[in-house]
Amino acid sequence: MTVFANAKINLTLFVGQKQNDGYHPVSTLMQEVSLRDLINIERADKDAFFVSGANLPADGKNLCIKARDAFRTHTGINDPVSITLEKHIPHMAGLGGGSSDAAAVLKALSDLFDAGINYDEMLDIAATLGSDVPFFIGGGCRLCTGRGERVSQKYSLEKTNIVIAKGEAGLSTPEMYGRLDASGNFISDNASFAIITKTKNIKDALYNSFDDIAEAICPDVAKIKRIMFLNGAQNAMLCGSGSAVFGIYPDAVSADNAACILRENGFFAESCVTVD
Ligand code: C5P
Repeated sequence: MTVFANAKINLTLFVGQKQNDGYHPVSTLMQEVSLRDLINIERADKDAFFVSGANLPADGKNLCIKARDAFRTHTGINDPVSITLEKHIPHMAGLGGGSSDAAAVLKALSDLFDAGINYDEMLDIAATLGSDVPFFIGGGCRLCTGRGERVSQKYSLEKTNIVIAKGEAGLSTPEMYGRLDASGNFISDNASFAIITKTKNIKDALYNSFDDIAEAICPDVAKIKRIMFLNGAQNAMLCGSGSAVFGIYPDAVSADNAACILRENGFFAESCVTVD
């Protein structure tokens, strides 16, 4: 079977002070978008894993393999499978690409072997794979808290045209948390509720605790934003801990046009939409 693994953006991302477990409490309104990886999973004579479209480890370090192994530990179903991952979501971008792949593998294996893992069990397995993985089990738009693994019900917001763009340089999540610790800039969530309750427009409520730091250390972030604003963006913000940026556009034509101009300037850029 072939399944899609969609990327996410963070409409809001508020980070609190580091806890004793080494993680930071977050409050983040995550939104699934249509930029996606493709994953094919089939029963096979022996285990196999292939990656195309990116230079990623095709070994146990890959989150797809970790998800396959977590499924086996949880269910005791050890039948060999062949997994083929076609990457389109950029790496070290804050788009949750690896996390989304992991969630898609868990769900696909559960379907393939009729394992009947329920939603709550799935969330628990996902949380062992990474803070962002549980969000992708249900996707859509959800408020994620704790270290990011506690996911709310799904909220239905208006469909929005988005451009996602990234330069060559990626940003490492642990490193970005370290820089935020040094800055001491922690604030509590004052925007997600307004978006969920539709008392404020999405474009007027965007926030990301990492945004200023990313602009300071990664020149492409400000450069991409400038091009986005010059070409019709209503607002633009960092994705997760970066280095990708998303811009909000009033319609598909202006989003497609901006993506085209960003590509002409040498950036990765895709026009996409929010997914319910
Ligand atoms: O959970 P995940 O493996 O995706 O996290 C990667 C790293 O990001 C963690 O090891 C930690 O350094 C940092 N992190 C954090 N607080 C969070 C989520 C991640 O400090 N809420």
